Amino acid sequence: MPSAVRGFLVELPTGKRRTLGAATKESLQDVLLRQAIPHWRVCGGSAICGTCWVQVIEGNAGPPAPDEAQLLAHYAPQVEGHRLACRLTVDEAEGAVLRLRAPPSTVE
Ligand code: FES
Repeated sequence: MPSAVRGFLVELPTGKRRTLGAATKESLQDVLLRQAIPHWRVCGGSAICGTCWVQVIEGNAGPPAPDEAQLLAHYAPQVEGHRLACRLTVDEAEGAVLRLRAPPSTVE
């Protein structure tokens, strides 16, 4: 029996929701890149710039690691329930809805 397709449920900056299929342990950032969905990623997924954060608006995506929590507290202290897309794996995000922010090319 084939296993169910796993994926991230995201809310795009337009408000539309999509499920993005992902392999086990694949990060949200890698999935966004593979599917050509624009997103913030200044350091290219090295978990040092803090720009790729997404907000968990439904469900639970697990707690960030201490170094990730430090970046999130610095770059988005006003936001609760957020994670770095380059650290968040599909295993952690099962059942959660993740709000993506408009990337720099679309911000005026
Ligand atoms: S892309 Fe820089 S912290 Fe995730």
